[in-house]
Amino acid sequence: MKVLVIGGGAREHALCRSLSLDPDVTALHCAPGNAGIAEVAELHPVDALDGDAVAALATSLEADLVVVGPEAPLVAGVADAVRAAGIACFGPSGEAARIEGSKAFAKEVMAAANVPTARSYICTTPDEVDEALDAFGPPYVVKDDGLAAGKGVVVTDDLAAAHEHALACGRVVIEEYLDGPEVSLFAVTDGDTVLPLQPAQDFKRALDDDQGPNTGGMGAYSPLPWADPKLVDDVLENVLQPTVDEMRRRGTPFSGLLYAGLAITSRGVRVIEFNARFGDPETQVVLARLKTPLGGLLLSAARGTLENEPPLTWRDDAAVTVVVASHNYPGTPRTGDPIEGLDEVAAQDAPYAYVLHAGTRNDGGTIVSAGGRVLSVTATGEDLARARERAYAAVGRIRLDGSQHRGDIAREAAGE
Ligand code: AMP
Ligand code: GLY
Repeated sequence: MKVLVIGGGAREHALCRSLSLDPDVTALHCAPGNAGIAEVAELHPVDALDGDAVAALATSLEADLVVVGPEAPLVAGVADAVRAAGIACFGPSGEAARIEGSKAFAKEVMAAANVPTARSYICTTPDEVDEALDAFGPPYVVKDDGLAAGKGVVVTDDLAAAHEHALACGRVVIEEYLDGPEVSLFAVTDGDTVLPLQPAQDFKRALDDDQGPNTGGMGAYSPLPWADPKLVDDVLENVLQPTVDEMRRRGTPFSGLLYAGLAITSRGVRVIEFNARFGDPETQVVLARLKTPLGGLLLSAARGTLENEPPLTWRDDAAVTVVVASHNYPGTPRTGDPIEGLDEVAAQDAPYAYVLHAGTRNDGGTIVSAGGRVLSVTATGEDLARARERAYAAVGRIRLDGSQHRGDIAREAAGE
């Protein structure tokens, strides 16, 4: 099959890497891609938010399957345009992607499906904001209703800061603070059948020990040795399947990747958020462990035939990914700096450790930084300690002026 992947971050590099290893994938294209993806897929320029342009590209490439990586094109209805052109697409319709595009909508679906989540108020006026902040007390959780690239949520004890964020956003969800470790659980679904993947944990704060501002994600690992073995079954039964069933009942079936961001609280699992696509950087570690060929799985979801798929299979390995970010990320990052050491990782650490590119581009033969998150250095090993050691050894070979990364990804879970 010929596959076209839309997007150009480390998640898309991980998707392309796995697709390139699927023997049924005969041609792999990515648009717009990045300097790393160019090593496994043919790149094409495209405005990823323009559904007609994506559909035209897919048609001209005679693609059998289009996989839409990021949320913004999904919310913009790119998957609808691809399907309207008669091409199978992995990714929800624009209407179904609202589960990520509007936090208020997600809350409405959860309430209807009886899915456990934080109690919340939707506020649009300063008075409503005051009342909601007062009702919950600190720590305050204030979420921009719309898409904000992982930066729309403020969790703070500072009432003035909570206020300021709420007023800057316009429409916000203010909710109860959820205590406890966070888990990301992805499920592949065709709108009916739901196949959960293995859980992962993401590190959202910029600095070690969960200090600093929220980011898009600074690292991840899988599996979670500390998690209840029944977690996946529990979340399938109480969160994922009821949500997919509710979306179908509303006439807006959700097919693609449903991402549940969960808090494991003392009172049980609660949904923090839904996303309508693979998470970044969790995808890097989840796909490193998935043995089932990815192309066949995503095509089956796109065609609505998941019911007939055999159970997913997994490697015994653990996986860790460490994000190398630009100077000043998550503020306005510095870009255009040369990245050195990539060849050394390829020569010395492969196949156990490898570099997935996020914001990079090829500047006349030199790979340079082109975004906030630049690289996602990923490694596998027989356990988390070994995977972690390999990932950090590889990170140590990379030279990018002013770059930053966390030193504590998977440290606690590895028992260190
Ligand atoms: P979200 O974009 O909704 O995933 O939120 C980003 C991050 O903010 C989450 O990963 C959590 O760390 C934190 N967060 C969001 N909602 C809550 C909540 N209700 N209680 C505690 N932390 C939260
Ligand atoms: N890892 C967080 C996200 O993809 O939204």
